[in-house]
Amino acid sequence: MAERRDRAGEQRYDATPYLPDRGGLPAYREAAAACEGCPLHEHATRTVFGSGEASARLVLAGEQPGDQEDRQGQPFVGPAGGVLRRALEEAGLDLADAYLTNAVKHFKFTSAGPGKRRIHKPPSLREMTACRPWLTAELRLVDPEVIVALGATAAKSLFGPSFRVTKERGALFPTGEGAGDGDGSRARALATIHPSAVLRSEDREAVYRGFVSDLRVAAAALR
Ligand code: URA
Ligand code: SF4
Repeated sequence: MAERRDRAGEQRYDATPYLPDRGGLPAYREAAAACEGCPLHEHATRTVFGSGEASARLVLAGEQPGDQEDRQGQPFVGPAGGVLRRALEEAGLDLADAYLTNAVKHFKFTSAGPGKRRIHKPPSLREMTACRPWLTAELRLVDPEVIVALGATAAKSLFGPSFRVTKERGALFPTGEGAGDGDGSRARALATIHPSAVLRSEDREAVYRGFVSDLRVAAAALR
């Protein structure tokens, strides 16, 4: 890992030294595979970079890969991904027109030992901050019309630490993100819950309905 220290002398976590200085999504994907910008790469299997086309009009960002994503190297291929795919379809959004990614690109987990189930652990603010340059680069390269943050981690990474999903979900707002060089962005953004919240909820149907209804706002914005 690149040895950088902040003012307090703590080792700084930062993906920046691993970013290529030119190229499109494939170049970034390849470089991200070798990222050691924070300690999460040490125990995870692989970097899970975003998937989708650079021409996508919609970017959906989750928190970080889970167990299945870590094994398969693709975002949202596990249980939360199942909910997301179903909800997107129901909201009238075309998955082929979406770029799926995460705020943090390596799986973080605890495990009781080898062969035991790996339990997802939320990323720390330091890890989120370290990984953010990859997400920023993806937004610049895809330059979407609509950005959807799935859950609090993605929303805080995209819109700032004081963003509250519970208060502000489902509403479209303009953002400085997504424009080629940062000026005159055309992207609008919206935050909603994380699809895994549906799976954890006691009232799955109601929570799922709310999720679909937020996604419908994004779908309407793309029409
Ligand atoms: N949860 C996420 O936030 N992202 C994934 O890719 C999978 C599960
Ligand atoms: Fe790099 Fe992000 Fe992985 Fe940390 S989580 S090693 S910053 S890609």
